[in-house]
Amino acid sequence: MLKFENVSKVYADGFKAVNSVNFDIPEGEFLVLIGPSGSGKSTTMKMINRMISHTSGTISIDGTDITKLNAAELRRNIGYVIQQIGLFPHYTIEKNIAIVPELKGWDKEKIKARVKELLTMVGLDPEVYSSRYPKELSGGQQQRVGVARALASNPRVILMDEPFGALDPITRDQLQGELLSLQRKLKKTIVFVTHDMDEALKLGDRIAIMRDGHLLQIDTPEKLLQEPASGFVEEFIGKDRIVQNPELMPVVSVMTEKVVTSYLHRSPEKALLMMRQQKITSLIILDDNDDTLVGIVSAYELIKKVNTIQSIEEIMLVPEYVLLDSATAKDAIVMMPNVRSGVIPVLSEAKKVVGLVTRGTLLTALSSQWTELEDLNE
Ligand SMILES: Nc1ncnc2c1ncn2[C@@H]1O[C@H](COP(=O)(O)OP(=O)(O)O)[C@@H](O)[C@H]1O
Ligand SMILES: [Mg+2]
Repeated sequence: MLKFENVSKVYADGFKAVNSVNFDIPEGEFLVLIGPSGSGKSTTMKMINRMISHTSGTISIDGTDITKLNAAELRRNIGYVIQQIGLFPHYTIEKNIAIVPELKGWDKEKIKARVKELLTMVGLDPEVYSSRYPKELSGGQQQRVGVARALASNPRVILMDEPFGALDPITRDQLQGELLSLQRKLKKTIVFVTHDMDEALKLGDRIAIMRDGHLLQIDTPEKLLQEPASGFVEEFIGKDRIVQNPELMPVVSVMTEKVVTSYLHRSPEKALLMMRQQKITSLIILDDNDDTLVGIVSAYELIKKVNTIQSIEEIMLVPEYVLLDSATAKDAIVMMPNVRSGVIPVLSEAKKVVGLVTRGTLLTALSSQWTELEDLNE
């Protein structure tokens, strides 16, 4: 929907801040622009809503050259969030959010309702915050208002220039998570500038890496990590990142290989004995003939019912969810909330059980990222 074709920006002093950049953003994509300070990220972004005019090349939205559009109208349809938010200090929060809808001529009632909806959406109680002034809010809360304001007129495109750059790490992490879950609901096209690679990997559907006005590579996080286009990109990303991002962690790194199995037609007493000996809480049940996975039995159920059942089948849960060993930790994270047994068997291509992911193994591997999981579950 957004297209850059050979776009350059030469400032008045002759400095080429952006050098023949080409890329294309599909509707609903979250694109992160990253690069060292001065690499041309903000300039690239500001050319989208014509806060900075490009010197050559073509920028188009839905096939229309943006220079053919009315600049004010263009800006009203593009939300914009910056680091020092730019809330007006003498306006209440409500008034700050209402600016663009008012410019668009919405009626008062509609604006009031919208402000309420937006504040709720970004996690601020409208009853409490509508009438406050920006300085009466924390940095994180102000930034939430900034996001609400950018969403106010329901723009299709949102530009964010280091919006969380000034926040403490915990607030920042929280707002990143909230932005992601908002994005999952609203499916805006977002261009987000940062110089923080962790932030880029966490947020971006794709990441564009800039240096000295050049766009070096634009790819998904996985692709960037696996096939960096240059030594600079590789170094900039950092090789050790792979362990920090669940999307890039193989599921085998968050599973236990200690899998204790039994057969469907073994007696419940025998199964219980095995569980006790091995000190495990989930027993994997295999088909007697071909060793394929048929069920999971929890120690809790087995102890409770061992005297009343004839066959293990009566208390066995049929695994509705399994993962292949080629899956990622994120796949497991997304799946886990739906898994009644709390255990996800990991299968090899030959359908043999090679490991188990449990809440415990996931927690241990991802403890620092656990707070994000709620967002993923929505
Ligand atoms: N108005 C201007 N006049 C001349 N040079 C500028 C102007 N604005 C930015 N630049 C230069 O353009 C380059 C890119 O700036 P910018 O896009 O803000 O970088 P980034 O956002 O990646 O840090 C920098 O070297 C900066 O000094
Ligand atoms: Mg910048």
